[in-house]
Amino acid sequence: MKIMEFTAISCFLAFVVINGAMPAFSTAGGLIDMGYGSRGGSMGAGSARSQEPIRPIPISFDWDIAKIELGKKLFFEPRLSKSGWISCNSCHNLSTGGSDNLTSSIGHKWMFGPINAPTVLNAKFNLAQFWDGRAKDLKEQAKGPIANPMEMASNHELAVSVLQSIPEYVQWFIEIYGDAKINIDNVADAIAAFEETLTTPNSRFDSWLNGYDEKISESEKEGYNLFKDKGCINCHNGFGAGGNSFQKFGVVKPYNKDTQTLGRYNVTKNEEDKYVFKVPLLRNIALTAPYFHDASAWNLSEAVNVMAEYQLGVTLTDDETGKIVAFLRTLTGDQPSIIFPMLPPSTANTPKPDRN
Ligand code: HEC
Ligand code: HEC
Repeated sequence: MKIMEFTAISCFLAFVVINGAMPAFSTAGGLIDMGYGSRGGSMGAGSARSQEPIRPIPISFDWDIAKIELGKKLFFEPRLSKSGWISCNSCHNLSTGGSDNLTSSIGHKWMFGPINAPTVLNAKFNLAQFWDGRAKDLKEQAKGPIANPMEMASNHELAVSVLQSIPEYVQWFIEIYGDAKINIDNVADAIAAFEETLTTPNSRFDSWLNGYDEKISESEKEGYNLFKDKGCINCHNGFGAGGNSFQKFGVVKPYNKDTQTLGRYNVTKNEEDKYVFKVPLLRNIALTAPYFHDASAWNLSEAVNVMAEYQLGVTLTDDETGKIVAFLRTLTGDQPSIIFPMLPPSTANTPKPDRN
C-alpha cells in the first residue's frame, strides 16, 4: 500500500515536473482528461495544431558522437577531392544555409554543374536524395560527389588512399568501424551520420505549431492559411514542408524555361516522369536562393508566383504573395552550430593534390 502511494505520488510529481518543464511537448487533451484543468490558451491551440500538415522538426539526441565527429571532419575534408581543394562544405556551405547561393556549383577545374545545389540541412527528411531522387538515402548520396568529375573529381580508391595514408584517420576508422582498412562505404556512412544531425528545429513556425501563439504575426499566419487554401500544402507538407514526394514542375502549364533537365525520367525512363522532380524542402528557404533546379528565380516572391502559375493555375495578388513569403520566412530554424574541425596533416604517403 505504502509503495503504491509512493509510486502514485512520484508519478504525479514527475508528471507535473515534466509538463512544467516542457509545455511545448504536452497536449491539452491529456491534461484536461486527467482532471488537472486547462493550462491556458496556448496549450489548447497547441493541441489543435497537432493536426497541421506541416510538422515541427523533431529534436534528436540519439547520436553516435564519435562517428559524427569523424563524419564532420570528412564533410570539411578537401583532400577527398582530386584538387585537394573542394570539400562537401564548398558547395553545401554550413555558413550559408547548407547551400552555395550560386546558379550552379563550381566544381573541379572551375567547372559549372548542370543543376542548382540543394541544401544539406534537413536532407534526412527527403524521401530520396538529388532532384531526381537517384540516391535512396544520404549514405548512397555521399559517394556520388567524390567521384563526380564535375564536382570533387576524385575516385573512391584515391579518396580512400588519402585517408589511409593519415594515421589519425586510420585510428578513428578502427575505433568506429573496427577495421584498419578504410573503405568508401564507411566513409559515406560517417558523412551520412553527420548529415543526420544537420536539422534546424525551433523555427518560429514550429514554435507556433507547438502552441506559442505569439511567435508568428497575423500576416504570417494569413500567409500560412493562403499556403493551405491555394493548394501549396498538397506538395509541401510534413517535417520538411516538402521532400516527401516527386511532382511534375509544370502541372497546369508546361514549364518552358528549362526543357533539358528531365528529372525523375532519368531514373525511371517512364515518359510521364519527364520534368518530375523531388519536391524541395521549404525549411530555411529564405537562406537558400536562388530557387528551382535551374535557379531561375532569385527572390522568394518570384518563386511563389511561378509556383502559383505553373503548379496551381492561380494568379496571386501582391498582398497574397507577400503574405505567403512572410510565412515562408518563419520556416528558418536554429542553424547547426558547428565547431570548425581540425584535420590531421598529410604524410609522405598521401597522394598529392592534382588540379588537372
Ligand atoms: C561541386 C559542388 C558540390 C560538392 C563538392 C558536393 N555537392 Fe552535394 N550537391 C551538389 C549539387 C549540384 C547537387 C544536386 C545534384 C542533383 O540533384 O543532380 C547536390 C546534392 C546533394 C544532396 C542531395 C540533397 C537533396 O535535397 O536532394 C546531398 C545530401 C549532398 N549533395 C551532400 C553532399 C556531400 C555529403 C558532399 C561531399 C561528399 C557533397 N554533397 C559535395 C553540389 C555539390
Ligand atoms: C504539384 C506540387 C506542387 C505545388 C502545388 C506547389 N509546389 Fe512548390 N515545388 C514543387 C516542385 C516539384 C518544386 C521543384 C521545381 C523545380 O525546381 O524543378 C517546387 C519548388 C518550390 C520552391 C523553390 C524551392 C527551392 O529550394 O528551389 C518554392 C519556394 C515553392 N515550391 C513554393 C511553393 C508555393 C508557395 C506553392 C503554392 C503557391 C507551391 N510551391 C505549390 C511542387 C509543388
